[in-house]
Amino acid sequence: MKATQQFIAQHQSRFLDELMDLLRIPSISADSAYKQDVMRCADWVAEKLSAAGADKVEICPTKGFPIVYGEKIIDPAKPTVLVYGHYDVQPAVPLELWETPPFEPTIRKDRIYARGSADDKGQFYMHLKAFEAMMQANELPCNVKFMIEGEEEVGSANLASFIKDEKERLKADMVLISDTSMLGNETPSIDVGLRGLSYVEVEVTGPNRDLHSGVYGGGVANPINILAQMIAKLQDEQNRITIPGFYDDVQELSAEERAALNAAPFHQVEYCSDLGIDQVHGEEGYSTLERTGIRPTLDVNGIWGGYIGEGAKTVLPSKAYAKISMRLVPNQSSDKITALFAKHFKALAPKSVKVEVRPHHGGEPVVTPTDSPEFLAASLAIQETFGKEPIPKRGGGSIPIVALFEEVLGLKSVLMGFGLDIDALHSPNESYGIFNFNKGIETIPWFFHHYTKLKE
Ligand code: BES
Ligand code: MN
Ligand code: MN
Repeated sequence: MKATQQFIAQHQSRFLDELMDLLRIPSISADSAYKQDVMRCADWVAEKLSAAGADKVEICPTKGFPIVYGEKIIDPAKPTVLVYGHYDVQPAVPLELWETPPFEPTIRKDRIYARGSADDKGQFYMHLKAFEAMMQANELPCNVKFMIEGEEEVGSANLASFIKDEKERLKADMVLISDTSMLGNETPSIDVGLRGLSYVEVEVTGPNRDLHSGVYGGGVANPINILAQMIAKLQDEQNRITIPGFYDDVQELSAEERAALNAAPFHQVEYCSDLGIDQVHGEEGYSTLERTGIRPTLDVNGIWGGYIGEGAKTVLPSKAYAKISMRLVPNQSSDKITALFAKHFKALAPKSVKVEVRPHHGGEPVVTPTDSPEFLAASLAIQETFGKEPIPKRGGGSIPIVALFEEVLGLKSVLMGFGLDIDALHSPNESYGIFNFNKGIETIPWFFHHYTKLKE
């Protein structure tokens, strides 16, 4: 990998310039106002993939945003790594909280600030550059296929159909993904699990129209008051979720597994000060690492209704709404949890209101093995460039397609992410360390090297 690393060192600043160009494209998949930008982003990625040396590059249309595919088959007898990433990003609102505009990437203190810098443009782009370097140095040791999608942030529904239809094209030995974070630059780690997701929107209706809150107030159910009471009942004093059956399928970890998880360096004081909170909060009997890794959760993501304009309007609203997400752990199933939620939530409602529960996208939790050649290759690769053995840990976020890679394609994934907690994913002022971008590009070729050797 010597020539590859030399090429990387020589081209570092160009790689960063290219990433800045990618970050200028506002590829927000959730907002239809950005449709043309998302499409333009797919074109950009396809062009760079070709330029890096991939064959059969194609912008595969779907009912939603396209999937960019490309491959390099050097020898069918060699192993094949399928690289997955996403070129879409989360909406950037609230814009006023950004120090510099979200789609005008800016470097401050060795970090690149822009929406998508860490999630996932800065991370999937490392793979294109690592590939380019291996091609230029003539050191690509095995086959590689790229699949970069544009709908991860909205649930990957069309990618799910794509992988079902394209099993032949996607034949591989494993999936390599950089879309997660590490404990720290001094304490590299690899996520060996992701949480699943159940996401619902609820609508509570009281009277058939907005009413005068003096004339009717006190005599008619206020759906916002009721919704707040119903939400409050979803968690008890121990911060456990009260939905009957919610914990039935939760896999409890052994004392040894919990001890291993808690052995990872985690600094509660820094965690709190970074977030501006005085104390952490969560399910009784579990540490923060456990609460965010191996325990399921329920969070209200948004709540609205009634009058929120300037001044006061005395109104008793007709409707109230909330968006609620539940993070799931093995062996919970998102369909089952959504059904349990809907049943319980409706049962919580008094007769004075009507309740509707509308399910959104979901995804299943995953755990990946630590005794596989793919995990070992990632571990060895990180040791080459960080000089330390990475700690296996559980990631709290979700990448719903990972469970389907296993179910549909029979492929295990390795989550070799290079982000950090401070990257502020989905938040204002998202950023990615230039150190992490460069380290990722250096580490990926080592992964290919060790994986190919381990499979021989
Ligand atoms: N890259 C994240 C997931 C992630 C981040 C996993 C950090 C582990 C550590 C991904 O882009 C994401 O945000 N996923 C969504 C789910 C999706 C269905 C909207 C999430 O976790 O909320
Ligand atoms: Mn992501
Ligand atoms: Mn994301």
